[in-house]
Amino acid sequence: MNKKMKSVKFKDLTKEQKRLLMAAEKTMETAYNPYSKFFVGAALLTRDNKIITGSNVENAAYGSTICAERAAILRANALGKRCFKSIAIIARGENFDTKEVTGPCGACRQVLLEFSQISETDLTVIMSTTKKDKIVVASISELLPLNFGPKDLGIDIQRYQK
Ligand code: THU
Repeated sequence: MNKKMKSVKFKDLTKEQKRLLMAAEKTMETAYNPYSKFFVGAALLTRDNKIITGSNVENAAYGSTICAERAAILRANALGKRCFKSIAIIARGENFDTKEVTGPCGACRQVLLEFSQISETDLTVIMSTTKKDKIVVASISELLPLNFGPKDLGIDIQRYQK
C-alpha cells in the first residue's frame, strides 16, 4: 500500500463508514483460506444504503481464488444491486495483525472501476489494518489512475444500473 496516502483514525470516519468497516471485519472471519490463511473481508455500501459483504474464497488451483472485494461485487450483482457508494476492506493473517492497510489487488481495482462507472460515482475505498488503528480513505480513481473502463468502449452503461 502506498504509505504516502494520508491515514485517518477510526473515530474520524462517518457513522456509515464505521458501520461498513465493522461489517467487513465480521465477514473477514468467513474467509475460505486453507492456502494463504489470510483473512479478508469487504463490505459494499449500495446507493440505497444496503450493506453487502464478501470474503476471500481460495482454491487448490491457486489462480482460481476469488478476493473478498470481487466476492462482494458478485454477491451484490446476484442480489440485483450494481450501484455503490463505497467499499470497506480489512484483513488479518492467521497469526498476525496487518500493520499497513490492505488495499484491493489490481484485478479488484479494475472490477471496482467497472461498477464505479455504472454507479456514476468515484467509489470511496476504505482500507484498514486489522486493529483499525490505521485507515486510508481514497477514491477508486486515485487507486487506479489513467484507467480503462466501459466508458472508453462507448458502452451505454446507464442501462445496467440497478
Ligand atoms: N485477497 C483478497 O481477498 N483481497 C485483497 O485485496 C488482497 C488479497 C486474498 C486473496 C487470497 O485468498 C489471499 O488474500 C492471499 O492473497
